[in-house]
Amino acid sequence: MEQTAAILTDAHQRVIRYLRISVTDRCNLRCRYCMPPEGVPDLRHEDILRYEELLRCARVAVTLGIRKVRITGGEPLVRKGLVPFIGHLAEIRGIDDLALTTNGTLLREYAPALKAAGLRRVNISLDTLQRDRYSHITRRDALPAVLDGIAAAREAGLRPIKINVVVMRGVNDDEILDFARLTLNDPLIVRFIELMPMGQGEWNGSGDFLSGEEVLTRLNASFSLREAAENLDPASANRLYRLDGATGQVGIITPLSHHFCRLCNRLRITPDGCLRTCLFSETETDLKPVLRGGGSDEDLAAVFRRSVRDKPTGHGRVAGVWRKCNSNMSRLGG
Ligand code: GTP
Ligand code: 5AD
Ligand code: SF4
Repeated sequence: MEQTAAILTDAHQRVIRYLRISVTDRCNLRCRYCMPPEGVPDLRHEDILRYEELLRCARVAVTLGIRKVRITGGEPLVRKGLVPFIGHLAEIRGIDDLALTTNGTLLREYAPALKAAGLRRVNISLDTLQRDRYSHITRRDALPAVLDGIAAAREAGLRPIKINVVVMRGVNDDEILDFARLTLNDPLIVRFIELMPMGQGEWNGSGDFLSGEEVLTRLNASFSLREAAENLDPASANRLYRLDGATGQVGIITPLSHHFCRLCNRLRITPDGCLRTCLFSETETDLKPVLRGGGSDEDLAAVFRRSVRDKPTGHGRVAGVWRKCNSNMSRLGG
């Protein structure tokens, strides 16, 4: 039975239900908005939390009211042993939603095992449907593998499948309608994300930014769009719509132009064991001293509570004023 006093609540009465665990900072792609060509320096192996340590954190977090867990990275599937880890997470009673965010390149290999381990669903990053352009954006020729990975996720019964498209002016904004069309006969959820100024990405200039409103304007010019009934989760970062007669949905995620901070219910654990209460705030709390210093679960819970209490009200960044966040997305996991 959940004890109300134990629930993670911040100073603004936001109840934290959603834990995003980034299991690795490594990635097999080099997306230009995320990294320079040579990548970013890897975290030290000994600083990365072991799976047992992550599971302990997850168990404690569930006693504190966490109900939704997402595995992210880097690319989570490049870390060895991810499938058994997901299997152990799936055994934790109290997690209602267990999902993975991936670039999709390795899903053909792993989708069936992930499903069998208890994963419910996947969100797949895909910014273009054109092979040359994919190679340009990610610096790897991996589009066929990703498309095959999406098919594998579908065959494995991972549902719903969401596609995350980071929209960049002059880079892929001419594909907004092509992406939207994918939802006509397929139950995909395609979400257009505003580019955020993060870390050491090469493309981080405000000139690349295109707002969610502009995406909607362009969609409305070609399709009849209706707000989807699924817009029910107030803490969700996305607004969803359905094209007339479509099986799937389209959505926008607007971290810069329309903040969802007021309703944010998220908490992150970085691969090196830091709690991060806001994507844009560099303030982190290192869990390793408690995890590796003989601390009890109650000590761990106390660190969670203290950290959440100080969750920032909002991030204060707006479209048009380009203020960069120093942290790399490959460590934070979105
Ligand atoms: P669902 O549970 O399927 O809705 O997933 P999600 O949108 O929470 O997770 P996903 O990993 O697919 O994230 C999509 C994108 O939303 C991320 O890449 C970020 O760009 C953005 N995003 C997610 N969480 C936050 C957040 O707390 N703050 C901001 N500013 N953006 C976020
Ligand atoms: N701005 C917006 N989205 C980003 N992602 C990575 N870096 C950025 C950025 N600078 C997205 C990925 C993935 C999700 C986890 O984060 O494309 O879909
Ligand atoms: Fe890898 Fe994601 Fe960064 Fe692309 S955005 S390089 S897929 S971590």
